[in-house]
Amino acid sequence: MWQPPERIKHELPLATWPTAQQAAGAQIFEPLEIGPRTACTRTWVPAMVPWRATEDGFVTPDVIDWYRRFAQGRPGVLVVEATAIRDIPSGPLLRIGHDRFVDGLRQLAHAVHDASNGETLVFIQLIDFLSIRRRPPRDKFFARFLEVTDRHREALRLLGDDPGIRLLGDDELRARLAALPEADIPYVLSAREIEDLERGYRERVTDTHLPHIRDLPQTLPPLFAAAATRAVAAGFDGVELHFAHAYTMASFLSALNTRDDGYGGAREHRIRLPREVIAAVRAQMGRTGVLGCRYLGDDVIEGGNHVEDAAWFGVELARTGLDFLSISKGGKFEDARQPKVGWSAYPYTGRSGYECMPTIYSDARGPFARNASIAGTIRGAVRGAGFETPVVAAGGICEFEQAEGILARGEADFIASARQSLADPDWFLKIRQGRGSEIRRCEFTNYCEALDQQHKQVTCKLWDREALDAPDVTLTNDGKRRLVAPPWRR
Ligand SMILES: Cc1cc2nc3c(=O)[nH]c(=O)nc-3n(C[C@H](O)[C@H](O)[C@H](O)COP(=O)(O)O)c2cc1C
Ligand code: SF4
Repeated sequence: MWQPPERIKHELPLATWPTAQQAAGAQIFEPLEIGPRTACTRTWVPAMVPWRATEDGFVTPDVIDWYRRFAQGRPGVLVVEATAIRDIPSGPLLRIGHDRFVDGLRQLAHAVHDASNGETLVFIQLIDFLSIRRRPPRDKFFARFLEVTDRHREALRLLGDDPGIRLLGDDELRARLAALPEADIPYVLSAREIEDLERGYRERVTDTHLPHIRDLPQTLPPLFAAAATRAVAAGFDGVELHFAHAYTMASFLSALNTRDDGYGGAREHRIRLPREVIAAVRAQMGRTGVLGCRYLGDDVIEGGNHVEDAAWFGVELARTGLDFLSISKGGKFEDARQPKVGWSAYPYTGRSGYECMPTIYSDARGPFARNASIAGTIRGAVRGAGFETPVVAAGGICEFEQAEGILARGEADFIASARQSLADPDWFLKIRQGRGSEIRRCEFTNYCEALDQQHKQVTCKLWDREALDAPDVTLTNDGKRRLVAPPWRR
């Protein structure tokens, strides 16, 4: 993963944990209305993909165990991982694109309600993403993937001053292209073709020459609406539309979206599809469940959105009647590291990925609560426009006073903690009970994220080798790590 060049190693923030009595008066443990429900506290576990679904996207017992463990810590809200809305294969990512997935999801929602004694609201994150291929070996790219055209023929002719090239058949042309020295490639391939060769082919929302990309504004609203309806039928308290990171909806919002069909260009046009998705979901779901979205407070890429755009979007998204706005940052393909041959580009490997999940090796500002001020700017704009929509902040939040400060300064209404909750799923509960000194504190070195990148079952280095032979402990596929955090022995 990219790291700030300063590479300053930060210590964990000093923690002074409250007594149970002090915690009882703390803002973070106050209830808060969120759409048609009330969260019992302002604590939130945001979406984290743990790679435990079946290859066909079904809920497994390991998926249920994973969420049950978080629910035992009784966060106000627990968001289930990015779940695919289409009925197409997408590897071991959860799916909700057909009614056959509902039974498993029902068991999952039930397990969360049961383990939290009804205290935790469970939402599911709904995602759409475009196609991405692995980086091809050079010979395969020229032999099979590149669509050869007269443009290539002409470029080769100019390069070699060889008029005979015009008469070459496609196979011979491919062979000549494959034999070109590296330095000549930019004269023959387009920038996009070079990217396909060096990083693997990746669709963009601006590829409107492809019918299925052109038609996204027609296909996506009903897909999101049907998925949300299934979520409510499965017993979820709400849905979070995934409008963040490297995926389809965030790409529509991004300033890099130059579509000329009324869904790209100016901000007013870029938000058109998100608005239509929200309207379609609301029309089907009504007020039976909470409906919110996660989107980016800053794309952190050249030419992408900045916080001013995000503040404007926040107001417009609040105007649609969304019940919450969860703010994330970065996590884009555009600055991702070049993958090895045979691997796909991964959107959390560049600077924007760092800003999404900052580590202790940082710049002077450090990783802790790094993105709260962005959430604060968005919340300020939303409140300024007269909307009370709750705003959720995430990014390096791991300590009580830090969380209280964010709430007191009005930067957010909910405190989301992904990695600290993974390190210790009971951490919010421990603070509430005056037992903060027992918290297993996240070290923010991203061992979990490295597993996620390789699509390996995600665990935390602080507990995954503990008591492997204890009864009822389930292990990773290689038998080397436990899959959920050990129980809290009080
Ligand atoms: C293993 C892992 C998986 C994640 N999966 C998702 C996801 O499915 N959807 C999402 O919006 N964010 C995802 N995230 C990002 C987190 O929700 C969160 O925004 C990020 O880790 C920063 O918060 P933190 O500092 O509290 O960890 C993931 C993070 C991790 C570490
Ligand atoms: S693996 Fe590291 S970064 Fe991830 S939750 Fe555990 S301590 Fe935190």
